[in-house]
Amino acid sequence: MICARMTMAVMALAGIAGAQELSYEVYKAKVEPIFLKKREGHARCVSCHAGANNAFGLQALTPGSKVWTEEQTRKNFQTVSYLVTPGKPEESTLLKHPLAPEGGGDIFHGGGRQFPTKNDPEFKVIADWIRGAK
Ligand code: HEC
Repeated sequence: MICARMTMAVMALAGIAGAQELSYEVYKAKVEPIFLKKREGHARCVSCHAGANNAFGLQALTPGSKVWTEEQTRKNFQTVSYLVTPGKPEESTLLKHPLAPEGGGDIFHGGGRQFPTKNDPEFKVIADWIRGAK
C-alpha cells in the first residue's frame, strides 16, 4: 500500500518535472528557425532582435551565414528560456509580447503584431515547445 502510494507520488512529481523542462532539441529544430523565417507580411524576428538591446537579444549571425552555429544556438536557447514560463505559453513573454492585443497579447510590441491570434501555426509550434513537447 505504502509502496503504491510512493510510486504514485514519484510519478506525479516526474510529470510536473517533465512539463517544466524545455527541450533544447525541439528549440533548435522547430522554434529557432521561426526567428529566421520570412513570414508573410512581417519582418523577421532576427532582423530586429539580433544583438538587440532588449531582453530578446538573439546572437548576431556571423557575416555571410544564414544560420546560427551550435554555440550561438545554445546562447539563444538560454536567452529565450528567460522569456518563457515552462508549461505556460499564455504567461510567456516570448509569445505574449508579439501577439496582437485582440488575440490576447500585450498592448504594444516594437515589432508589430507578429502573431494575429493564438491559432497562428508558428505561435502554436512555440506554444507546444513551452508546454514541454519533446
Ligand atoms: C521590426 C522590428 C521587430 C521585429 C521584426 C520583431 N520585434 Fe520584437 N521587439 C522589437 C522592439 C523594438 C522591441 C522592444 C520594445 C518593446 O518592448 O516592444 C521588441 C520586444 C520584443 C520582446 C520583449 C523583450 C523584452 O525586453 O521583454 C519580445 C519577447 C519580442 N520582441 C519577440 C519578438 C518575436 C518572437 C518576433 C518574431 C516573431 C519579433 N519580436 C519581431 C522589434 C521587433
